[in-house]
Amino acid sequence: MSAVAKDRRSGTPAARAGIALGITVAATAAVIAIFGADAYDWVKAVHVIAVIAWMAGMLYLPRLFVYHAGSKSGSEQSETFKVMEYRLMTIIMNPAMIVSWVLGLWLAWQAGFFTSGWFHAKLALVTAMSAVHGMLSAAVRRFAEDANARSAGYWRMMNEVPTLLMFAIVILVIVKPF
Ligand code: HEM
Repeated sequence: MSAVAKDRRSGTPAARAGIALGITVAATAAVIAIFGADAYDWVKAVHVIAVIAWMAGMLYLPRLFVYHAGSKSGSEQSETFKVMEYRLMTIIMNPAMIVSWVLGLWLAWQAGFFTSGWFHAKLALVTAMSAVHGMLSAAVRRFAEDANARSAGYWRMMNEVPTLLMFAIVILVIVKPF
């Protein structure tokens, strides 16, 4: 049985991701209860930490696909990539995306940003980022079944999409141009 299949069977990465998410949500609730009016800045700090973890995966995973697409199916190298990709997605990226969304929406609700133009644009781009996340997640499953049909060049190009989205999102939320 492959290492990815063993991981899936034991549910270890999913369980760890669930625990990480539970701890984050509980810690955020505690921060809100303890800090009251100052909670906004603490929650924003945790939001930025989650975003950094999410982006680290969004930038690294397509790079792993570039190397994986160039390796021979069934080789030891290919099997190692499968484990790295599966763990990156389930342990880091999925929980980090969920925490980014939950805290980001809480921040917007607290600060009344739902009527701001920059926030609508940020929401659109963050939704696009989440759609790319979904595509990458589907690709992790395809690579695990040795069914990837995309070239290394395609994944090299896909590597730029989260980068460009990230530039625009950070400018929107910091400059708030409209
Ligand atoms: C997942 C959905 C997301 C939502 C709903 C969301 C929403 C928000 C909101 C409402 C704030 C507070 C803005 C302020 O207080 O001025 C914020 C802060 C921030 N967000 Fe997000 N965000 C999300 C994802 C992201 C992503 C993907 C990135 C980066 C690629 C990002 C980067 C930041 C940064 C850097 C700040 C701090 C801005 C500052 O303090 O000036 N966010 N976010």
